[in-house]
Amino acid sequence: MARATSVFVCSSCAAETPRWMGQCPGCGEWNTLNEEAKVKPVAAGGRGGGATRAAASRPTRLSDVAAERHARLKTGIGELDQVLGGGLVPGSLVLLGGSPGIGKSTLTNMALGNLEGAGHKTLYISGEESAAQIRLRAERLPGAALQVPVLAETDLDVVLATMEAEAPAVCVVDSVQTLHASDLTGAAGSVGQVREVADRITRVAKQRNIAVLLVGHVTKEGALAGPRVLEHLVDCVLQFEGERERTYRTLRALKNRFGSTNDVGVFEMRSDGLVEVQDASARFVGEATRAPGSVVLAAMEGSRPLLVEVQALVSPSELVPPRRVVNGIDRNRLALVLAVLARHAGIGAGTSDVFVNVAGGVRIDEPGADLAVALAVASAVRGVTMGELAPIACFGEVGLTGELRTVAHADRRLAEAAKFGLKPVIAPGAETPSLRAAVRAALGAPPSRVAA
Ligand code: TYD
Ligand code: MG
Repeated sequence: MARATSVFVCSSCAAETPRWMGQCPGCGEWNTLNEEAKVKPVAAGGRGGGATRAAASRPTRLSDVAAERHARLKTGIGELDQVLGGGLVPGSLVLLGGSPGIGKSTLTNMALGNLEGAGHKTLYISGEESAAQIRLRAERLPGAALQVPVLAETDLDVVLATMEAEAPAVCVVDSVQTLHASDLTGAAGSVGQVREVADRITRVAKQRNIAVLLVGHVTKEGALAGPRVLEHLVDCVLQFEGERERTYRTLRALKNRFGSTNDVGVFEMRSDGLVEVQDASARFVGEATRAPGSVVLAAMEGSRPLLVEVQALVSPSELVPPRRVVNGIDRNRLALVLAVLARHAGIGAGTSDVFVNVAGGVRIDEPGADLAVALAVASAVRGVTMGELAPIACFGEVGLTGELRTVAHADRRLAEAAKFGLKPVIAPGAETPSLRAAVRAALGAPPSRVAA
């Protein structure tokens, strides 16, 4: 039932209707209408002459604007503080997105525990779990996690009233999809609800100077109603990534009004909570298998170099078309690399299944990973190990004409590889200008039966 206070807006063509309909009357799309709170009509001015009545305001020169520099609130979790740009800014709104089970509640719980331990007032609001469940988790966590005040509540009005009454310095809302504004009819988690919830929490946060960590679920496709529509509303968007079954997780900023979006934190999920991994490269290099199909990628995770193992398996397939399975890299990049390998380096995976995996559950989202994928697949196809004494490291983008293209921060990648004694490093350059040359450098000349 539509109420006078809400309206249904099409997410495709932005048409408005007073009632919910299955099909949008504007563009004919199905299931695109979402409930939203009605915007108050603009008072005065609209009719007739068009002149507004409001008095003009005087702009201020930027250099004359008083800017208070608030001390950042340190969460005590180094990797989190770094990604935030030095800690939480009072009164700011941070959205922490990630798929279910990745560790969002654990991370926020630990952060509040540390803040509480440091003498800041905190509040943990959960619409997902009961207070007893939250306690059970907190018992496993280090620090003052058990001292954090909790409220298990899904009614937005109660949540806002509590935030105002308690006025904590830092508040966690877990999650934005579980809160419900009673004056909107949509189910909790619908686009209209999520936007309304975030909007009203923002207002209270700014008024009371409460730093709010808003937890939001994202599905694998990143499609779920929620985080996407909130990005413009919040000051900072953090993405917590990794495979739930694996140990490693990365935390990166997709947007940050108070810092750079270049920093990435690496965590490991242990039985006593999330532990920061400062020497991630050492871990991944130490775990590298050195079998055919394995190569070390000198990747950049934001502004930090990171060595990770990329593995490939190529095996005969009965399926048409054969499988192309990736973990941690983009599937389309694999398709591109396979095509260039076949066309320009004489190594075809043909009708075989190809699996490519970034070890440890790390996700690499940069073109510099192309060469590692190509070398791992080439080594798997040939059944040849790369590197005699130490694993071979590599990085570089693969171009469509078979050339290797330079990528950013070559010097830092080389330095990181050198730190761990990885030699040689195969990278775009005079000796290896093409993928064919790189494959030759890594695997040696092909046996004569392989068409060169
Ligand atoms: P959780 O923080 O509840 O994930 P999210 O809030 O993102 O849905 O935790 C996810 C998983 O982490 C859960 O399956 C249990 C595991 N876990 C540990 O391995 N060690 C721990 O100390 C904790 C608290 C959780
Ligand atoms: Mg949770």
